[in-house]
Amino acid sequence: MENSKKTKGIILAGGTATRLFPLTATTSKQLLPVYDRQMIFYPLNTLIKAGIEDILIIIAPDHSGQFLNLLSSIFKKTGINLEFVVQMIPRGLADAFIVGEEFIGQDNVVMVLGDNIFEDDISQAIKNFKKGGLIFTKKVLDPGRFGVVEFNKNGKVISIEEKPSNPRSNYAVTGAYAYDSRVVKIAKSLKPSNRDEVEIVDVHNKYLEIEELKVEKIKGAWLDAGTFDSLLKAGNIVKEKGISRNFDPRIEAAVKKFNQNLRELAKKKLL
Ligand code: TTP
Repeated sequence: MENSKKTKGIILAGGTATRLFPLTATTSKQLLPVYDRQMIFYPLNTLIKAGIEDILIIIAPDHSGQFLNLLSSIFKKTGINLEFVVQMIPRGLADAFIVGEEFIGQDNVVMVLGDNIFEDDISQAIKNFKKGGLIFTKKVLDPGRFGVVEFNKNGKVISIEEKPSNPRSNYAVTGAYAYDSRVVKIAKSLKPSNRDEVEIVDVHNKYLEIEELKVEKIKGAWLDAGTFDSLLKAGNIVKEKGISRNFDPRIEAAVKKFNQNLRELAKKKLL
């Protein structure tokens, strides 16, 4: 039974993106350019490279048509199944598992935030992941801005603190996570926080309580493109490190097809 489980993917690409106003008044944050590709292709690449072929993209109601224009047909014939669902209200990161309940079913799920860019390949960790929760962490210079993981002397995670003033390690919780299907029940059991959101840290604490939370350290660049400065920095690092040049061939084929369609329309003066 265990072996028949699939691993599916979710990209959380809704939200309000207030820190990027006014850019996000006319489009979604995850459709803004990061060097030569729309931001959404980066988390898509992380999932597809990790061998995930069933992917749910959670989007906000505004600009939802733009996501469909870009992505709804270009992955046909690549073996990748993309589905879309609208999150009507941005109720928090853990709401992804409530909105995505039907999609997840009994399967394991890897979630990547729509504004997170990873240079590292997480395939091996995903292949090894069978049960519980798994968070990807990255050593940073300014851990106090993030969720911070505390390890015991055997390297086991013992706590996660949100934006602590005295961080217990330099390891930040990034925007990539894997869970078994119990995550749906866990998310549904959470009480919204003071900012009226269901918090992902509470999901992790539930897996910690039952001693089923694991941590994987990632290598290479990890970028979150949610502010003007980090968006600019992300574009420069992507260019420098050739991150978009190393996309999975299925993504590159899809982008090529999109460009061809655009050129044909331009030629016919239909754009
Ligand atoms: P955030 O950057 O925390 O939120 P935001 O994108 O709304 O931006 P801001 O803080 O500037 O207002 O979100 C991280 C990612 O998760 C991003 O891709 C948006 C997405 N998200 C949702 O899809 N739904 C939600 O309810 C929330 C909170 C975030």
